[in-house]
Amino acid sequence: MTQDELKVMVAKAALDYIPAGSVLGVGSGSTVMKFIEQIGINKVPVAAAVSSSNKTTEALKSIGVNVVDPNETQPYDVYIDGADEVDPNFNMIKGGGACLTREKILTSMAKKFICIVDKSKLVDTLGKFPLPVEIIPMAREQVARTLRALGGEPVLRKDCITDNGCEILDVHGLKITDPLALEQKINQIPGVVTVGLFAAKGADIVLYATEEGVKVLK
Ligand code: 5RP
Repeated sequence: MTQDELKVMVAKAALDYIPAGSVLGVGSGSTVMKFIEQIGINKVPVAAAVSSSNKTTEALKSIGVNVVDPNETQPYDVYIDGADEVDPNFNMIKGGGACLTREKILTSMAKKFICIVDKSKLVDTLGKFPLPVEIIPMAREQVARTLRALGGEPVLRKDCITDNGCEILDVHGLKITDPLALEQKINQIPGVVTVGLFAAKGADIVLYATEEGVKVLK
């Protein structure tokens, strides 16, 4: 099975987690795009959605879902999103698609984060996937120096301006043994908008696709 087929499989399984009659939080990335496609194909009713990126908003609107402003929404039940890496404690690296800040905002508003991935995203220790850090452009060099002092090698993501008008440094070479401590440390660097470590609020349920079907971790 290809990775794409696995993504479709887990996208279909996630349809069962869409709450009836309440707002759904929707993440970003190729797995989420397949999830949105499945909502459309299966005509699953979605009362309204909050969206983590301009691309997701466009896709949701194209299948007729009402996308609402998070400022006009109360904390809601379910947020569904992919991840770049997930560890055994459901800490995640996210931001491969440069949408980490809005994803973290929507995560903070959700009662449950349902993470949808294919099996290749499950790791023992986070850090092989370069850790995305969204930054204010004028702070780029100073943030990079601080990240080097923490043991990482930051690389500016080419041709990437986020939906918030910011840049991304991808930090290579980190072996993240204490995700929560590192999340807090990086978030405190002046000029950092968000680090793509989701540890303070990780996933609640992980659905992962394998050749044998979709498995659920709780
Ligand atoms: C976007 C993200 C995505 O969830 C993450 O990059 C996984 O993407 P994909 O489903 O394409 O593998 O965090 O910012």
